[in-house]
Amino acid sequence: MENVVRVAVTGACGQIAYNLLFRIASGELLGKKQPIALHLLDIPESNQALEGVKMELQDSAFPLLQEIKTGSDPYKLFKEVDIALLLGAKPRALGQERKDLLHENGHIFINQGKALGEVAKREAIVLVVGNPCNTNALILASHAKGLNKNHIFAMTRLDQNRAKGFLAEKSGSLVKDVTNMVIWGNHSSTQVPDFTQAKISGRSAQEVIQEKEWFESVFIPKVQGRGAEIIKARGKSSAASAAAAVIDTLVSLREETVEGESFSLGAFSQGNSYGIDPELIYSFPFRVEFKRLKQVNSLPIDPFILKKMKETEKELIEERQLVENLLGDCL
Ligand code: NAD
Ligand code: LMR
Repeated sequence: MENVVRVAVTGACGQIAYNLLFRIASGELLGKKQPIALHLLDIPESNQALEGVKMELQDSAFPLLQEIKTGSDPYKLFKEVDIALLLGAKPRALGQERKDLLHENGHIFINQGKALGEVAKREAIVLVVGNPCNTNALILASHAKGLNKNHIFAMTRLDQNRAKGFLAEKSGSLVKDVTNMVIWGNHSSTQVPDFTQAKISGRSAQEVIQEKEWFESVFIPKVQGRGAEIIKARGKSSAASAAAAVIDTLVSLREETVEGESFSLGAFSQGNSYGIDPELIYSFPFRVEFKRLKQVNSLPIDPFILKKMKETEKELIEERQLVENLLGDCL
């Protein structure tokens, strides 16, 4: 099969996948001309359900979908993949923090990292969604010998999208008019939605919404706590909005970034200009310029935001210590 892009999705029987797979197959991830092969991975106990998902994909008759592979062996399913979307992990329950899942989910990323390093394409893009996604991505990277480490990411786009929504609502603007909404750090309740970088219709968000107190005491905690708010309301963690954020992330990675805009991604902190520990997966702003992904460096940082950036860094360092025994030697 020529020109087929191979996309692996783990947790393929889960609720995010059910919102994501059909959008991928219809061309939303890679464009309406790009043929796709889907490699669907879940645990052996989900075998039957996985066949059901496959049947539904077949029954949708997507013209771009040329092949569907299913199974539970990452060494088979990750073979030659160009993109790996790693959703497969347990979601947290009401009252849990995402890092409470480290011991249940962390080990998944050892084997998947090894398998990706051995059988995926070297330049494969890997997006870890399963929580706690930053530290899971670090575990994966530490075992993924042979992969380009700068292509291993943790998803913080959902946080960026949420923050944009809140700024639009507060200012009576449209979401599309909110730009450069930067998320720093961990996809957790210490993340830093940096309102000082954000623009609304080209003007500083702080100039448009002249309520310092609102930004600090309402906006930041609201973005930080949105995942938990959804679990409380739905009884399950976010799924459709998470799937939308996966699509947005991949679209941002393949399109040129428009002037004045950036998008946020958990990525290797090595070489960052913000003094963040160089061996973390920490969320930074990025841009794609002339087809190259570039971390946005040297932004001026407000002292209030800097303090929060250090707090979320501290949490990531603590998470790294907690999983010391799961880390490989490929960092
Ligand atoms: P879900 O429970 O509906 O589905 C998870 C699926 O993963 C299940 O089908 C399960 O069998 C499978 N799975 C478990 N271990 C696996 C393994 N080793 N290999 C392959 N598959 C495996 O959960 P969900 O709602 O789809 O959420 C998935 C993960 O994404 C959770 O950890 C959740 O917390 C996280 N999440 C992250 C974000 C984010 O913004 N980063 C947003 C939403 C959810
Ligand atoms: C989210 O942000 O919605 C997800 O990470 C799920 C969760 O546990 O909050």
